[in-house]
Amino acid sequence: MDKAIFEEKRRKKFLIQSVIWFVFLLSLSYFLPALMLFYVLCGAYDVSRNSDIDGRLLYRYFFGNGVPTWALSPFNILMDIVTLPYINKKIYQLQDLPEECQPEINELLEIVKQEKVVDELASRAEKIRRSMIFFKWYGNNIDNFYNVPGFHKDFKYIRTIGVSVFNKKESTDEHFGPLRTTLRVLYNINDITSRDTYIKVRNHENHWCESKMFIFDDTLQHRSLNETDEPRYCLFVDIVRPSKCHFVMDLFVKLVAVIMQKMNHIFYSSWVPLN
Ligand SMILES: [Fe+2]
Repeated sequence: MDKAIFEEKRRKKFLIQSVIWFVFLLSLSYFLPALMLFYVLCGAYDVSRNSDIDGRLLYRYFFGNGVPTWALSPFNILMDIVTLPYINKKIYQLQDLPEECQPEINELLEIVKQEKVVDELASRAEKIRRSMIFFKWYGNNIDNFYNVPGFHKDFKYIRTIGVSVFNKKESTDEHFGPLRTTLRVLYNINDITSRDTYIKVRNHENHWCESKMFIFDDTLQHRSLNETDEPRYCLFVDIVRPSKCHFVMDLFVKLVAVIMQKMNHIFYSSWVPLN
């Protein structure tokens, strides 16, 4: 019964939000048609970067949880231009990253292998469906009940370090990351034996039992799934996007940090912080 009430409330909230959003878009089209056209063009380019485009993806981007990514599409397109001639590969291998960046990632992996991350987090995480802990956030070190000194080092490329934990049979919805100032590096910490724990970026699936590392542009629609009875501990790292002018890209990341401080709750509302 509780679940039914919750679902009904959720449905009503979604309907109200949808009506407000439609009215807002119609008003913008009427009063500021040039601005609306600009946003439609930026959004069309941005969403077209996904593979396997269908009506569901388009609806999600323009009217669902992709709206913040659409709103930020002009900025993200600017990031694509600023980082030229480094074309956005969307999905990366470690060797695609700058030579100075690769040792930083490898250093984190060595730390993870030496640390007992799973043991340290398990007692708190096992009671929660989906949890996360940040060690570094946009360059700022975060102190927790569990600290890893190696994560608090100053890096040239690494800006954010955290661990996300999915308990058994826990998955996210399809969603879009908001910003392309950084790339996301994922590394699954605990050994997974089943193919049913993976990340899916449209038609590309990375099964953690086959490849522990996955690097991608998370503004593409993606989904993390754990359809097993085992928990999944995943290190997530954001690195400054490769560019000819690292200093400028780093300034953009700092600017984003200031804005994200106010908006973080929107993007991490489904997660319980471990602290
Ligand atoms: Fe995500």
